[in-house]
Amino acid sequence: MKSCIKIAVLGYGYWGPNLVRNFRNLDNCKVECVIDNRKERLEIAKNLYPDIQISTDVYSVIQNQNIDAFVIATPVSTHFEFALNALKNKKHVLIEKPMVSSVKEAEILIEAAIANKSVLMIDHTYIYTGSVGKIHELINNNTLGTLKYFDSTRINLGLFQPDINVLWDLAPHDISILLHIFKEKPFSVNATGISHTGNGIENIAYMTLNYSSGFIAHFNCSWTSPVKLRFILIGGDKKMLLFNDLEPTEKIKIYDTGYTYNTDDERKKILVDYRAGDIYIPKVENNEALSNMAKDFINAIIKGKQPESDMYLGLEVVKILEAAGQSLKNRGKEINL
Ligand SMILES: NC(=O)c1ccc[n+]([C@@H]2O[C@H](COP(=O)([O-])OP(=O)(O)OC[C@H]3O[C@@H](n4cnc5c(N)ncnc54)[C@H](O)[C@@H]3O)[C@@H](O)[C@H]2O)c1
Repeated sequence: MKSCIKIAVLGYGYWGPNLVRNFRNLDNCKVECVIDNRKERLEIAKNLYPDIQISTDVYSVIQNQNIDAFVIATPVSTHFEFALNALKNKKHVLIEKPMVSSVKEAEILIEAAIANKSVLMIDHTYIYTGSVGKIHELINNNTLGTLKYFDSTRINLGLFQPDINVLWDLAPHDISILLHIFKEKPFSVNATGISHTGNGIENIAYMTLNYSSGFIAHFNCSWTSPVKLRFILIGGDKKMLLFNDLEPTEKIKIYDTGYTYNTDDERKKILVDYRAGDIYIPKVENNEALSNMAKDFINAIIKGKQPESDMYLGLEVVKILEAAGQSLKNRGKEINL
């Protein structure tokens, strides 16, 4: 097995430069080439990193035997074709979230990755953050008790995307966090939303995932909020947690808040007792998540280790988004997963 993986990064727009920087910082990997169809973006890459090759020709780089792995950071509608071609040319592939635009496409890529014995991984960056690692630990060691709800708010004055709605743009972060920390699978989804631009691409959307155990998850995504909020509330029957990703240091707060209830059989009422106790702020590791993600990809190639954000997580996220899309078009109709 190779000890240095040579990679090509496709797409040097907003996110691509972060990927190039993080992969360049790893010892067991070399960024050989950056590809983009905008020459001005390639010039920026070349000025920063004179040793990197640049190209506008995706397919000639895909066919280059010297390249071991392809990192795809182009718009979602292009992911499938580039990834499939790279896999068929025996490359390992990392795709930016969301993996692809449909469940069918995700399944074809998974089949191709298995057939070619390639690593196929999706960059769900959040699951590599110290905060999500800490939340996972707190759930696993039962600090929160039995989980009852997950409620995320990811809103700001965001960039309207030409090819995907706000759920496909923003919700992959929260869906991947939820699937990573909570193992029960939802059985259905409802989503409502609206396009204020007349192009049918929703800029505000609300999605609910329904679970048979009584757990519920809700997602609020918007590109048209005057304030930027990045909140996730997780409620357990012992404690409740707030993850505020915009806090510089105290990102997670654990509330000793809860309630108990008794049913008054005679009057058919419930009697609720509330508890509002201390608030605890745990220490959270402050590593760059993208660096952990890049290491996971390279280790998966070199050591054959299953990556945390594997292709199956990518598929699950796309399944939920596709079903949410059907629900959106039917004014919130419940769609089974
Ligand atoms: N993991 C994260 O936190 C995170 C954050 C932002 C974006 N993303 C994801 O990264 C991907 C790219 O998003 P972005 O915001 O960087 O987009 P962007 O539009 O800023 O950049 C995309 C780049 O790809 C290039 N490109 C487009 N089509 C091409 C083609 N056919 N051939 C060659 N180059 C082409 C464009 O010229 C552009 O420079 C998306 O999947 C997005 O969801 C992930």
